[in-house]
Amino acid sequence: MKNNEYLITVLKGDGIGPEVIDESLKVLNAICNVFNYNLKFQYEYIGGNAIEKFGISLPKKTIDNSLKSNAILLGSIGDPKYNINCNDTPENGLLKLRSVMGTYCNIRPIKIYNNLAEKSCIKHNLIKNVDFIIYRELTGGIYFGEKKYDKEYAYDTCTYTYNEIERISHIAFRNAFKRKKQITLIDKANVLSTSKLWRNVVSNIAEKYYSDIKVNYMFIDNAAMQMIINPQQFDIILTDNMFGDILSDEASALVGSLGLLPSSSIGNNIAIYEPVHGSYPEAAGKNIANPIGSILSAAMMLYDFKLYKGYNAILSSVQNSIDNNIVTQDINSNSSYMTYDIGDYISNYIINNFK
Ligand code: IPM
Ligand code: MN
Repeated sequence: MKNNEYLITVLKGDGIGPEVIDESLKVLNAICNVFNYNLKFQYEYIGGNAIEKFGISLPKKTIDNSLKSNAILLGSIGDPKYNINCNDTPENGLLKLRSVMGTYCNIRPIKIYNNLAEKSCIKHNLIKNVDFIIYRELTGGIYFGEKKYDKEYAYDTCTYTYNEIERISHIAFRNAFKRKKQITLIDKANVLSTSKLWRNVVSNIAEKYYSDIKVNYMFIDNAAMQMIINPQQFDIILTDNMFGDILSDEASALVGSLGLLPSSSIGNNIAIYEPVHGSYPEAAGKNIANPIGSILSAAMMLYDFKLYKGYNAILSSVQNSIDNNIVTQDINSNSSYMTYDIGDYISNYIINNFK
């Protein structure tokens, strides 16, 4: 890699995916223009549109080309046309991509914009300054265990190995040093064997390597309540695949809109950057989707590339658009700004203020 040169695989996906990705690309182009980064893009298929075109939710070409690139920028997948009776679904494609890329650690930052606090369904005094990160295990657990589905009988199995828990825990602990030195492990260790193993692994490595980090243990049912009544207590949440999926949607209600949340999924080598929201098929093609989750995911990619100037420029430009109420209707129901207006505003702001 020379001169900040990176090849990015763009997977626009289904529903609102293409619309939000287009705004991220607009913003990244502005960033490249200002900071002289050399980002190259290649486009591939995943999800419903891949089934449509190639008869499979994750074509081999998507995998092969993704493996040759430095990162994956993903929009969203999902299409109600594919249901339980289909043998391939858009969701299969995403899960397989995560698995093949080995992105076992999904990072979902939850940060309140204080001037949006009144949009939240939680009282202002409870959510102001809320700032935590969910570390969700992404390639194991009940999502990937043996399954069976018959008309009269079905099961899913949840399995974890010591190593699967240990590797994501190290990432969460290392990041805890940069923050409040506090981790909350969320599990159901009063009932589930896998949760007992999570507790055991986390307490072992905490004792052995991270004696400066304070570890709290919380059951998932209690945690779901604590997130509503006292979200300020959290700094780093560490949890398994299923609990992390549920808690991250719950956390979006604190922020005011699921459309605002970004994520990165890291692991072996090539990371995936995608918003937390889904494909929102009802909104597809209407240009009303909020592109901020996707734009901030692109910013997380720049951070991981150590392109910190670009990362900071996107963060402050997003903050500026929110401060000036340049937002989509999910945040302000009276707003007439469309998806592309947000990307235009942010990319113009970058050009005008950072060049
Ligand atoms: C997410 C999504 C996915 C998941 C779905 C689309 C398979 O909800 O990224 O949170 O459950 O992981
Ligand atoms: Mn989810």
